[in-house]
Amino acid sequence: MTDVEWEESMTTEATTILPAVTRFLQRQHGLLIDGAWVPAQTGATFATLNPASGDALCEVAAGDAADVDAAVAAARRAFPGWSEMMPAARERLLLRFAELMEEHRAELAQLETLDNGKPLRVAFNVEVNVAIGQMRYYAGWPSKLTGETYAVSSPGYHVYSRREPLGVCAAITPWNYSLVMAAQKIGPALAAGNTLVLKPAEQTPLTALRLGELALEAGIPRGVFNVVTGFGATAGAALTRHPGVNKVAFTGSTEVGKDIWRAAAGTLKHVSLELGGKSPLIIFDDVEDVEAAATAALWAIFANSGQNCVAGSRLFVHQAIRQPLLDALVAKTRQLRVGPGLEEGVDLGPLISQAQLERVLGYVRRGQQQGAELITGGERLGGRLASGYFVAPTIFDRVEERADIAVQEIFGPVLSVFSFASEDEVVHRANASPFGLAAGVWTNHVGRAHRMAAALRAGVVWINTYDWFDPAVPFGGIGESGQGRELGRQVMEMYTELKSVWVRIA
Ligand code: NAI
Ligand code: MG
Repeated sequence: MTDVEWEESMTTEATTILPAVTRFLQRQHGLLIDGAWVPAQTGATFATLNPASGDALCEVAAGDAADVDAAVAAARRAFPGWSEMMPAARERLLLRFAELMEEHRAELAQLETLDNGKPLRVAFNVEVNVAIGQMRYYAGWPSKLTGETYAVSSPGYHVYSRREPLGVCAAITPWNYSLVMAAQKIGPALAAGNTLVLKPAEQTPLTALRLGELALEAGIPRGVFNVVTGFGATAGAALTRHPGVNKVAFTGSTEVGKDIWRAAAGTLKHVSLELGGKSPLIIFDDVEDVEAAATAALWAIFANSGQNCVAGSRLFVHQAIRQPLLDALVAKTRQLRVGPGLEEGVDLGPLISQAQLERVLGYVRRGQQQGAELITGGERLGGRLASGYFVAPTIFDRVEERADIAVQEIFGPVLSVFSFASEDEVVHRANASPFGLAAGVWTNHVGRAHRMAAALRAGVVWINTYDWFDPAVPFGGIGESGQGRELGRQVMEMYTELKSVWVRIA
């Protein structure tokens, strides 16, 4: 399929559910352990919902500690074969996996839209396509992993290092970008020669299960990639404390990230954490185009209905352009179309669950109680959207800097606006957060752009853009936003041990 044909097919596929998706939803889904689909040992299942309607989509197995034991044992058995396989052979299998993801991309996108709620176009472009790109990028890594030689100051020695896989890894992923978060962990883990157990979020387990089927079809040997669906406190916690797991890679809330780190300390396993944020987007009065800056601010907060770890949820606008920028932003916000992700032309889908809906509306109420001025949105959407978890995109102005909505991660479509007068002042205010995931700066002054990039406390700074990613570029947070990095060469280092070898040659 060419890209043009594919773009065209998207619109037609938007209105009808593919037969393959219908069949997938009609099946009961087990756990993928040792290359076979098996029920949870307790027989327990749970329903995953469509957040656009609140209806159950299908039943999946509720894995628990005994299932985690079985999955880790299978991954352990598969490890020698996988880690010793020739790099070119591992590459070929991972490329085949990526190809199968591409062949089934329409299906994966529909499954993600049904399970998570996001607009289908977004599921295609920001989930499926990105996940495929990542898988291809990592597929190339097995043959590029190298050690180093060292110039030691003792005569008669040849000293070098080897990069070796860690063993069995566990990936615990969230529901906001299910496919990308899974690919971002499966890719480097397998490319480095590790085997893996994936525990997807209980709200969005479906595409992880489909990935499991595609991995088997690609010929990835049994036990190399296992999927245990289930809840955090049971399946997730069992993985983090399991002595047979060498690394946990987690993306999710800061609170659970801290729990995981504590639990992992018992067996000193490697841990990488991609957590929350309260990212600042700063717009200076020297911007060339106020409209363009307003559009950037709009998507920085409202993309994925604000359920985005890098959401630009604190907007700092220079006082000289405050009014025109706010006017443009509010106008654009009111034009956003909120609705079911399978409908054409929808910009924003629902929130993921009743719990997130209540949490977000709770923040809106607290924002008002704590004196912020609600300038648009703030309510749950009713009418034909009443059974889903839809919230109108919301903007608060004149927010007190210590108000809950100004400091806590809301993870919904709620923006806090502040105005500022000077560069020093805004750096200080933007950095006054325990989080440090991302930051954005809009300015037309090249010196200022670089000064800001250096001064902002964040794992990524976007200048005159926002929310860009590439598999080659490392990503991760500072402070309470996380530990370690994903993507790029750096993630390959995080899925390997470094061994030094001393050889006496004289
Ligand atoms: P969460 O952090 O509880 O869930 C993320 C993943 O961790 C899921 O797979 C879950 O099953 C698992 N998990 C939960 N408790 C666990 C435990 N004790 N041990 C091991 N695994 C565990 O996030 P949740 O409850 O879905 O959302 C709550 C808030 O978390 C959101 O409002 C948002 O603020 C934040 N969040 C941030 C994300 C990010 O990308 N930074 C992604 C998802 C949520
Ligand atoms: Mg769901």
